Amino acid sequence: MAKSKIKRIGILTGGGDCPGLNAVIRGVTKPALDHGLKVYGILDGFEGLVEGRMLELYNKDVSGILATGGTILGSSNKGDPFHWPLEIDGKIKIVDRSKDALKNYRSWNLDALIVIGGDGTMHITHQLSKMGINVVGVPKTIDNDLEATDQTFGHDSAVFVVSEALDRLHTTASAHHRVMVIEVMGRYAGWIALNGGLAGGADIILIPEIPFDWNVIYDKVLHRNTIGKRFSLVCVAEGAKPKNGRLITKGRDIKRTDPVQLGGIGEYVAKMITKNTELETRFTVLGHLQRGGSPTPFDRILSTKFGTNAIQLVIKRQFGRMVALKGSEITSVRIIDAISHQKLVKRKDQAILAASAVGVSFGTENL
Ligand code: F6P
Repeated sequence: MAKSKIKRIGILTGGGDCPGLNAVIRGVTKPALDHGLKVYGILDGFEGLVEGRMLELYNKDVSGILATGGTILGSSNKGDPFHWPLEIDGKIKIVDRSKDALKNYRSWNLDALIVIGGDGTMHITHQLSKMGINVVGVPKTIDNDLEATDQTFGHDSAVFVVSEALDRLHTTASAHHRVMVIEVMGRYAGWIALNGGLAGGADIILIPEIPFDWNVIYDKVLHRNTIGKRFSLVCVAEGAKPKNGRLITKGRDIKRTDPVQLGGIGEYVAKMITKNTELETRFTVLGHLQRGGSPTPFDRILSTKFGTNAIQLVIKRQFGRMVALKGSEITSVRIIDAISHQKLVKRKDQAILAASAVGVSFGTENL
């Protein structure tokens, strides 16, 4: 029996936003409309799929958005259909609303759904595909922690922001002979701290994959002082922790796909440096500046390639797959393989080796 032709597709952006989401939406929608497909933008990630909120997208909607940050569709990291936070009498009860998601997908007569998101979003997407929804994934996250793609879009833009912030901290650190600590995002992976720190000339980079030794940090900043470099830049990932220490968190929000809210390690590191070296230290938390604003040229190109390849997968009915970057080529992988484990920084990563070779400390004596 001949396979039915794709006529109507949905598209949604899930999880935390990042630069390049709009470029992907444009990359999917323009060619889809050219092929005569109808495209429906589902609002606020999976929340819109569960609650039945969407709008039809036309050329005018996706025109002029290549360089715009955020997402024209809205996003959310709280609308997991399988883990839906229902508020009853001020209390949160977690319920399964995946049947509502499926009902809406069917009532809108969608033939496929393109889901743009990170690790958590791809887990949900995989579960939806097991319920019979034809899915194709696009890997997004500033954290770059998705396995099976060499890079997620959004990461390069975050690294750019970190690098620029370090350049700015460099001049003020040197003027005041201070230690400057910058805390960056990345959750349990150190890619943003590693790549941003390397690009911005950090003297110490602390990442979750390499638990650090306090004394190595103190020795490094003191040594720099004795050789006439009277300032130091420390780039610390929000998920970094000392050897035998624990993660520093800001709180928990059970409505989120991952309830843990990381944050606070930058301030802690700064306090410990002041206390143990008597060097004047300041800290900056870069926060959501890393997620906002316009994508870098690299991310605009990657997002456009991802979007245009994703719609091709849909047209060829290659469902359950996620577009991926391998070397300089766009390919695709099974979503289940992409979520099998998190992509973390390996101690022998070339960026680690290059940084060490130019004198960057990772807060440990043995790499
Ligand atoms: O996953 C992207 C990310 O920006 C992480 O780096 C960070 O820990 C988290 O999202 C912050 O989430 P929120 O915007 O909900 O505070």
